[in-house]
Amino acid sequence: MTQSDTLQSVPPGFFEGLQQRAFSPGWAKKKPQMWPTPVSRYVPTVWRYADARAALDEASAFVTPEFAERRNLIMVNPVADNIYPTSRNLVAAYQLVLPGETARSHRHTPNALRLIVDAGESTYTIVNGVKVDVLPGDVVLTPSWHWHGHSNMGSQPAFWIDFLDVPLVQSLENMFFEDHPDRNERPVVHDPDSHLRQRGTLLEERVREAGVVDVAPGGLGTIALQVSGWTEGQEQLHRPAMESAIFAVMHGEVVFQANGLGEVTLARGDVIVIPCWHEYSIRGKAHWSRMLKVSDSPVTRRLGFLDVQTSRRM
Ligand SMILES: [Fe+2]
Repeated sequence: MTQSDTLQSVPPGFFEGLQQRAFSPGWAKKKPQMWPTPVSRYVPTVWRYADARAALDEASAFVTPEFAERRNLIMVNPVADNIYPTSRNLVAAYQLVLPGETARSHRHTPNALRLIVDAGESTYTIVNGVKVDVLPGDVVLTPSWHWHGHSNMGSQPAFWIDFLDVPLVQSLENMFFEDHPDRNERPVVHDPDSHLRQRGTLLEERVREAGVVDVAPGGLGTIALQVSGWTEGQEQLHRPAMESAIFAVMHGEVVFQANGLGEVTLARGDVIVIPCWHEYSIRGKAHWSRMLKVSDSPVTRRLGFLDVQTSRRM
């Protein structure tokens, strides 16, 4: 019996009947639902700090903290029909808080962290009542369901890069979000050395010694952070991997090479996303460079999928 014979013998109205009962025939899927190796619909993409800074400066004339929860620019992966994620599980955004401004307090199931790019004195985040100062180069964690709000009481604009697992939480359909009852949470204690703050100066010291440093391991359940140091000409090739990673340059200049992107040089504050299963290489271009890597690898690891990568037959 050929395929067309089979289709001709389908009773009239059979498929319509299935559809009315919310069934779909598994033998005639509209498109495959499994495939032999990981496929990402997202593409390697670069975002420039200079572009974001200029646009946020412009936006500050008409977007106030009263109007917006956050004055930020989301790094939307430029694939068809995408309006939000940077990679499958993560989203990154540049944010500006002007002198005298406060970005109001809230909490949500998504985990978040930020890399401070530029800020003066008296910029701080309040996390669950703890006032945590931030300076350029610092990484600050706001784990799931922790209250957090940001203030800039200094004289210079504060720019940072936020990273969140919102797309993952959306995919799990586990979103909760609350505004703080006081709008701006009042600090109960001041702890510049909070475990939620990784000082840029200390990260620099550790990276000079070790080359690569895991930042606050386990601090966020779904997101892994790593800072790496690069000397001029130092190069590394990365085979296709299960994780999707977002990199932000903290100091110096690095060159990335990836399919569809060619060779690109990134400077301080620039961001690149490498979706899963993409081969790419990194090369130090300045005398000394430092870079933050933000990845969803804890999710893959906990699900046991890393073992699959090594045990599959082909
Ligand atoms: Fe938030």
